[in-house]
This record gives sequence, structure tokens and C-alpha cells, in this order.
Amino acid sequence: MDTPLVGSSPSIQKIREIIRLVSQDTSLNVVITGETGVGKEVVARVLYELSPRRKKEFVKVNCAAIPDTLLESELFGVEQGAFTGAHRKRKGKFELADGGVLFLDEIGDMSFPLQAKLLHVLQSGEYSRLGSETNITSNTWVVSATNHDLKQRILEKKFREDLYYRLNMIQINIPPLRERPEDIPELITHYTRHYQDKYPDRVIAPLSTHTYGRLCDFSWPGNVRQLVSVLQRILLIGCDDETLSEILHEHPAPTTPDATPANGNGLVEKLRAMAADSPEAMETFSLKAIRKNATDLVEKEVIAKVLDRTNWNRTHASKILKISYKTLLTKIDRLNISEPN
Ligand SMILES: Nc1ncnc2c1ncn2[C@@H]1O[C@H](COP(=O)(O)OP(=O)(O)OP(=O)(O)O)[C@@H](O)[C@H]1O
Ligand SMILES: [Mg+2]
Repeated sequence: MDTPLVGSSPSIQKIREIIRLVSQDTSLNVVITGETGVGKEVVARVLYELSPRRKKEFVKVNCAAIPDTLLESELFGVEQGAFTGAHRKRKGKFELADGGVLFLDEIGDMSFPLQAKLLHVLQSGEYSRLGSETNITSNTWVVSATNHDLKQRILEKKFREDLYYRLNMIQINIPPLRERPEDIPELITHYTRHYQDKYPDRVIAPLSTHTYGRLCDFSWPGNVRQLVSVLQRILLIGCDDETLSEILHEHPAPTTPDATPANGNGLVEKLRAMAADSPEAMETFSLKAIRKNATDLVEKEVIAKVLDRTNWNRTHASKILKISYKTLLTKIDRLNISEPN
């Protein structure tokens, strides 16, 4: 098995039990939910590995990464000559996953029109390649994942309720790591061993008790993915306490009352510094301009922080910030946020 599901918190034990039962009855479609980095793909792969379908393919489709126009042919395939440029027949993911598992990642981002087509396939059990009249019987176990609240998307009319019930026959919700901190030591042990095995020529020193304690106490907003990447860095490059603080974004205890988060992460202090730099500018500022500046300042701080935590994965960052990918790019540009080298 690629990545085992590490952890023995009550919630992970319960998930393991659901996986054990569900993997034996692959007629029930599954939706895996949870914040980014909690292990939704790990769970999907374990479901596949334990099911009788493991002899066939596990086919992953990222519904958010593929433009809508391409996603349809990606899912259902294309008949030769279906449109200009379709020089030869191409199988779709449904066909490739025949007898196996179709993992629809980021299902909450699928467009409304395509949701209707997917629903049709799930209801009829049949589909056809684009440009073909011939029906193909679908025999795949559909496992989906999302970090959206699908019920909320239904209320916003962005997700079809009928499709939701088709996909969500079984729901597996993975809680964030901060709600199951007892899994952290096991994850540290597992991934320390993993990196030692991966780099057999290197002597990887175990974590100091102090660092170990800090990792166990941290709240991990980026969940297991963030823990794994921080741990990898510590084990392979080393990391002093101060650097670790920077990585974890835990700033040293504030020295002035203004620097406490209560006033907006040092915002007042920054505005004061701006005034000190250019008092005349402060005088001529309209309240509107000050408000705009303050908003920009806060936005810049928050966006930079989220980008940093997601390792500059803009798709993830835009989801966390609940803005579109395009808006995020515009903001990065306008607020002059630069990626560290
Ligand atoms: N319980 C776990 N045991 C071992 N590794 C885990 C576990 N949960 C997550 N990981 C590791 O954390 C990383 C992120 O996991 P995964 O890709 O499954 O998250 P995800 O929920 O699909 O995130 P996203 O929503 O961002 O796609 C991977 O490296 C994965 O191997
Ligand atoms: Mg994922």
C-alpha cells in the first residue's frame, strides 16, 4: 500500500472501520470531506486497496484543475472525428476506471452543466464517448472528495442536490489535525522512518524533545500535509528554534501591547509607522483612503500567510481565502506579494 492511514485517534479508528465495511460493497458511492491536507486522497486510495477492485485501475480526475470544456471529454472519452482535432479515438476516465475506482477529486468545483451529465451517467449506468452514439456500460466505483461544504454549495445553487445524494451514499469526514492531536506523534514516527528509508545514505537525527513537543502542540492549519513538509525540512536540513517559529508562524511573544493580535496582527502599529514615515501624507489622507490602506495591509498579510502555508499553491490558497483563483492572482499582483526564492 502506498501511504497507510496513520493514526489511532477515535475519529481515525472510526474511519478505518467505515473503510473496512464500505470497501467490501463497492456499489455505494463515497464522498470524502475535510479541510485541505487532512488525508482525503489517502483515504480514497486505502478504500481502493482494500476493495476487490484493486486488481484494476485507480483513476484520479481533478475536477478543479481541468477546464470545463476539456473535463467532459476527459471523463467520457472522444470518438475519432468527433470534432476538429479529434484524430483518433480516446478513452475517457470512466472507461479507464472500468472495474476499478474513479476518484473525482475537488468534486465541489465541477460546473453545473457537467454535474447534470455526471448525474445522468450515475442514474442510467451508461455513457457514450463524445461524438459517438454507442452506449458503454459504466462499471466503476465513484469515490469523490471535496473541501467544500457541499450542503452550503447546494444552498448557493452551485451544486445539484440530486447529484449530491447519488454521490454521497456514504460520507467519510476527516476532522482537521488540531481536533485529533493524539495522531501527531504517530505521524512523526511514521514519516521519520519514511524519510530514513528514502535516504538510506543519510543519518537522520531524531527530533529533540523540545522540537518534538512544539510539533505536538502546534495547531497545523495546513493539517497533515503541513506537518509532513515541516518535518521533512527539520529532518533533512535541520532547523533551530527561531527558524521553526518562523516556519510555524508563531511569532515571539509581543513586546508592546499594540502588537497583540487583538488589534489586528499589529495593524495599528503599522499604520503608526506609516504616519511616522510620512506624517503629511497622514494629514491629507481621507478616512476612505486610510480605510483602503488598512484593508490592503490586512489583505496582504493574510494572503501572504496563506500562500506561505500552502507552499504557494494558488489553487489551495484561493479556496482557503474563499476567492476565485483569478481574483487571487490579481491581488498578488496589485498588493505586490512576492514568492520567496
Ligand atoms: N492519516 C494519514 N497518514 C499518513 N499520511 C497522511 C495522512 N493524512 C494525510 N497524510 C499525508 O498528508 C499529505 C496530504 O494528504 P492528502 O493529499 O490525502 O490530503 P487531501 O485531504 O487530499 O488534501 P487536499 O484537499 O489539499 O487535496 C500527503 O502527503 C499524505 O500522504
Ligand atoms: Mg486531495
